[in-house]
Parts: sequence; C-alpha cells; structure tokens
Amino acid sequence: MPTKSSPRRAASPRPAALSGDPLATPGTADSTDDQHTDNQHTDDQHPSALSHLPVLAAEVLEALDPQPGEVFVDGTLGGAGHTRLLLKAGAQVYGIDQDPYALSRLGELEGLTIVQGNYRDMPSLLAEHGVTQVDGVLLDIGVSSFQLDDAQRGFSYHTEAPLDMRMSQVGESAFEVINETPTDELAALIFEYGEERHSRRIARAIVAAREQALVATTTQLAEIIKRAYPGGHSRGIHPARRTFQALRIHVNDELGALRSGLEAAAELLAPGGRLAVISFHSLEDRIVKRFLKGRGDLEALTKRPVEANDEEQARNPRARSAKLRAARKLPEARS
Ligand SMILES: C[S@@+](CC[C@H](N)C(=O)[O-])C[C@H]1O[C@@H](n2cnc3c(N)ncnc32)[C@H](O)[C@@H]1O
Repeated sequence: MPTKSSPRRAASPRPAALSGDPLATPGTADSTDDQHTDNQHTDDQHPSALSHLPVLAAEVLEALDPQPGEVFVDGTLGGAGHTRLLLKAGAQVYGIDQDPYALSRLGELEGLTIVQGNYRDMPSLLAEHGVTQVDGVLLDIGVSSFQLDDAQRGFSYHTEAPLDMRMSQVGESAFEVINETPTDELAALIFEYGEERHSRRIARAIVAAREQALVATTTQLAEIIKRAYPGGHSRGIHPARRTFQALRIHVNDELGALRSGLEAAAELLAPGGRLAVISFHSLEDRIVKRFLKGRGDLEALTKRPVEANDEEQARNPRARSAKLRAARKLPEARS
C-alpha cells in the first residue's frame, strides 16, 4: 500500500455534464450484493422491494475516472458497492464509515483499507495510514438501506425499536432528543431538517406525550406524529417520514459532517483529483452546490446535478431522489 499518491496521468478535459447507463457499466453486473443507498427517509417501501445496488454507479465512475494504482477515499463505504467498482478499475481505496455494524458486514477486499470514523475527519484518519493526498474522493451520504432495514437501529417508523438512529453508536440518541429537547427547539429542528410544515404541532404533541411517559420506541413516536397530523395523514407519504428524517439528520449531524467533509476532501485532493458527491435531498444538494461554486481551486464536472435515468429509477425507487455533483481540482492548484 503506498503511503502517498499523486495523479498518474495528465489532467484531461472532462465533460460538463455526465450521463451514463449503469447497466452498461462493466463491474455492475457482479455487484449484486452491493449496497444500495438511501438518504431520504423513504422507508415507506417494504424492505423486500429495496435493491442493493450502488446509486448512479456509471455516473460516479465517469466522474471519478479511476485509473490503476490511483488512490481513492470512499468516505461512506457502507456495503462497498461503489468501492468495488473503484477496486475493479485497479484503484486502491481507503473506505471510511462511522458505523461499526456496516464495517463488520464487509469481508476483506483486495486493495481496500477499511477505516472506522467520520469522513469529516478524513485528513487525520488517512494521515494515520501515511496518506496525505489522494486522486479522488466519493461521498454517498446519509443512511444505507441496511441501516434503514435493520429495525433495531431505530431509523424506521414501521417496526418497533428503541429510538436510537446513531450511525456511530456514540453521542446523543434520538431517545434523548425526543425526550429532552425543549418544544421550540424540537419544532425548529423538525422544520429545518424535515421541511415539515406541521413541525410546531408535532413538537407540541411530542412534549405533551412525554409529560405522561417517556417516548421510548419508533412506533410510539410515529403514532404521536400521526395523531398530531391534520387528518391523520399526509398526501402520499407517511406522516412520520419528515420528522424521522429530521431526527436522523440531527442525531448524526449530517449537514455539519457534509460541510466539514467537503472542505476536508478538497484539501486532500491532489491537483487533477476528482470529487463526487451523491445527495438525497435539497438541503444537502444546496450545501454541495454552494461549496463547489465557492472553491476557486475546483472546476465543476457537472453543471447541473446528475440524476438517475428512468431505468435506474424504475429498478431502484430510492435512486429517484439521488443527485450527483462532481468536480476536479485544478491541475495548477497548490497541494
Ligand atoms: C448511503 S450509504 C453508502 C453506500 C455505499 N456507497 C455503497 O455503495 O455500498 C452511506 C454510508 O455512509 C455512512 N456514513 C454516513 N455519514 C457518515 C459520516 N459522516 N462519516 C462516515 N460514514 C458515514 C453510513 O454509516 C452508511 O454506511
């Protein structure tokens, strides 16, 4: 494993907008055990309906353009779906995930170094392996379908489980947030991270319920939200979905990690290095878009966010909200 890397090829002009057909991509065919990603809290679907394919696989490969011997960071390793494709192209990958359970599912893969931690800390995590510069970084943010489908993690409002939602298993859990946060703060976070217009009503209902007895499980919380919802339902989606999404984002400080992680990634990239970020809702995409616009040392490879084509969306409902943005560090950028 090299301790340091620099690009092994001349920087080549990249297309302004990426497009591709994941089915046509070499490498996707043998990745049937790969993980599918889900960043929106879409557990309205039955788990058996979920696929386990890396989202926007061909488009990610086109953006990252991995070459044999290059070094990549997959900041959100998950089931290693994308990483397997990078490895298959001959790259070496440092795969970071903060979830010990996600990492424990993975077997050994040649060329992959597994690192447990938060991608926001990627410079120090990689420095521990003697790596100070990389050829590419991938962030496929949010929760995986494995996490969402594992009832005991407390991400799903369909199955009874303790309120937890911590990917890393450390820090404040959803139980503490729900039972200890003052009403106004609770309403604000449900509104901000869930874009839930009934946030105040929901926060008041949670506080009224916890005054009677602590809210301990996912289904208890979902029922409180449902009862608080005008008419008891929300058009097309479960009334608890936005609140659960908000809680998950808050508990894991997902937006804070994204902001810091983008800065960290840009610093780690060698001149000519590529960055690809897949987000699943507008809050995240806005952060990525603003970040890429604001960095003078990065040139965008995607003018607009790249979305899954009709075929992928049909095959994989969770790909419907995926948005990929990519950039390249300018060759003349000082490293
Ligand atoms: C959407 S999944 C990634 C799936 C992966 N691309 C694949 O194809 O298998 C996101 C993963 O990133 C991890 N994760 C989310 N935020 C993280 C963070 N700030 N630092 C490290 N890992 C994170 C989650 O634990 C989860 O396993």
